[in-house]
Amino acid sequence: MALEIRLYPDPVLRKRAEPIPEITDEIRALADEMVETLVKRVGYGLAAPQVGVLKRLIVVDVEDDFYVLANPEIVAASEERVLGVEGCLSIPGVEAEVERARSVRVRGLSLSGEEVEVEARDLLARVFQHEIDHLNGVLFIDHLGRAKRLQLLKEYERLRRSPQAQPQREKEGAVI
Ligand code: NI
Repeated sequence: MALEIRLYPDPVLRKRAEPIPEITDEIRALADEMVETLVKRVGYGLAAPQVGVLKRLIVVDVEDDFYVLANPEIVAASEERVLGVEGCLSIPGVEAEVERARSVRVRGLSLSGEEVEVEARDLLARVFQHEIDHLNGVLFIDHLGRAKRLQLLKEYERLRRSPQAQPQREKEGAVI
């Protein structure tokens, strides 16, 4: 069953998610539902707080790379940082350039309970950083300067108030 995606400013998006002590059937069922939700909504990733569950679980689906990880953490990040256009399923209709590490190493638990490490770069690295931010109550808008953030939230509110309003231009970024 696809789950409802919580939208900004839902307070659950600002809470810190709890570690998952072990992979249980309940966690596997949640992961299945998150995958189904992500497939329906055409995004590159989804974190459990976005479906109202404060557990450290993410799903990442970027081209040929697909990961479900519990307790993911960034254990190394490149000094090189790059700009890329990002959106978020929880803040639909708006996007902005966000600076992220070009590559990261991510460690987490697979659904079979094994520790895994992933070397990610470019878009995949961006998606991991965005999803892990969600587990800490951080949204992509927090990485913007104040003026840009306010401008973007104003546009978001305008879209929310009049659902028939169209975004001012075609979206080009990665919805994460
Ligand atoms: Ni997001």
